[in-house]
Amino acid sequence: MPDGMTRPMLPAVEKFIEDMRKVFADGIPEPERWEICRELLTELIADPDVKEHAKDWPVTGFNPKTDRVQNLLFYEDPDYGFVINALIKNPGGSAMVHDHGSAWTIYGVLSGEERIVHFDAEEQSDGKIKTSESHSEYCGPGQVDVVKPWLIHSEYAGDEKSIAVIVRSKRSGTFEQYRYLEDGSRVMIKGPEQVPYSLA
Ligand SMILES: [Fe+2]
Repeated sequence: MPDGMTRPMLPAVEKFIEDMRKVFADGIPEPERWEICRELLTELIADPDVKEHAKDWPVTGFNPKTDRVQNLLFYEDPDYGFVINALIKNPGGSAMVHDHGSAWTIYGVLSGEERIVHFDAEEQSDGKIKTSESHSEYCGPGQVDVVKPWLIHSEYAGDEKSIAVIVRSKRSGTFEQYRYLEDGSRVMIKGPEQVPYSLA
């Protein structure tokens, strides 16, 4: 367990972890594994204790010292590698155009609202990457979005603070992911800085 995490956590979180570990132990393949995770996460973000606890979670802003946005880190599984994060955005907070590399991201909106914009990418003859909006969708309280590996997207917060609980197939910072710039270049990014936070 990374520093700052205390077990046991809230009962609903312990149950979530137990159920996810069973999914892995049973060898359920992708993408079914993450569809089950979507159902489990839908239950988790509806749990009254989790919602109450979330009222105290700090806004995870941009850290100028590390030049990275932050995520709260609640849990990292020692055997299967999945992690539980939270992202808390102030009204109107937006994210850059990016992908999550080879990781799966199960994104549950606990409160507030997010608009998630997906992009198509087309590689030009000069090696530049042209991105164009393919579609966007609103994700309201209680909804969970499954973001596939390499999907290019951007998230925009609505008019109120938004709180999301995120399950990732592996911890940000342990794999390559990219940000897509307007000039058609892409740069490798480390992904959100992980800030351990206790859910006990
Ligand atoms: Fe993202």
